[in-house]
Amino acid sequence: MNKQDTPNYEYARQEITKVFPLPGLDDGSLAPVILRLAWHCCGTFDKYTNTGGSNGATMRFPPELTDSGNIGLDVARLALESTKCALKWISYSDLWTLAGVVAIEYMGGPRVPWKPGRIDYVNDKRVPPNGRLPLGYKDSVHIREVFLRLDMNDQETVALLGAHAVGRCHKRYSGWEGAWTLEPTVFDNTFFKVLLNETWSVGTVPETGRTQYFNADKSLMMLYTDMELVKDPQFLRWVKVYAQDQTLFFKDFSDAFAKLLELGIERDLMGGVIGK
Ligand code: HEM
Repeated sequence: MNKQDTPNYEYARQEITKVFPLPGLDDGSLAPVILRLAWHCCGTFDKYTNTGGSNGATMRFPPELTDSGNIGLDVARLALESTKCALKWISYSDLWTLAGVVAIEYMGGPRVPWKPGRIDYVNDKRVPPNGRLPLGYKDSVHIREVFLRLDMNDQETVALLGAHAVGRCHKRYSGWEGAWTLEPTVFDNTFFKVLLNETWSVGTVPETGRTQYFNADKSLMMLYTDMELVKDPQFLRWVKVYAQDQTLFFKDFSDAFAKLLELGIERDLMGGVIGK
């Protein structure tokens, strides 16, 4: 029996890592968009109805598949298809979430605890409705509405948003354009430093007409929701803490991301996923 036939998550990590380098794409790495895939799988959770979340890999089905927030994630899903074929024993829901934590570590971020056992729903009966993912043009009320629904407090919300240290916006997908930091394949606390230290003003992406914030030399961008983190005093408090203390940011990010990965998942004493 070879490594491809039996569950071996260390082997899965190695196989996933092979997918990341992609010269010619954005900053030469698929790791940021794969992290975003993992977050969007979990970001549909609704604590009030206990629906959504990463179990089931519901993004395979409409309407989640066609949610405007998920445009561009086909690149990540497609890249992981070769890994899925090589590791027949892994579910899509485990693969997509594990790939997210492997991406974080690959980019220099913390090791996030991850547990296996998710299953792939066989039909679309439990696909969450569209509209649960956060919208980048909104304000702090919207951010709190979404992240409270995800059972996250202000501190966890700010920590999670630190992931915008990596990756970029694409005018062909969201209509916004550019990266948040100068090294968008390095996971660190730069997002918070840049947010505090650059001078930001509103501008327009010429090709799409979408408005966003640009720094003085227009090399970096922020969404309206990112800027809310400095405009809102409770959020700002944590931005300042994380800009000063990367070790704490890594710890809090890791805790919050691990929590995100488990939303909607009930486990038995052995760690197996119950029901659903
Ligand atoms: C208020 C909450 C959030 C909003 C409104 C938001 C919005 C966005 C938007 C509009 C993009 C650009 C999509 C594109 O044009 O390709 C993006 C990219 C990204 N987001 Fe967020 N996001 C939020 C929270 C998060 C969280 C919590 C994480 C992870 C923990 C995350 C990780 C990422 C990553 C890694 C990218 C880059 C993807 C790439 O390079 O293709 N975001 N986000």
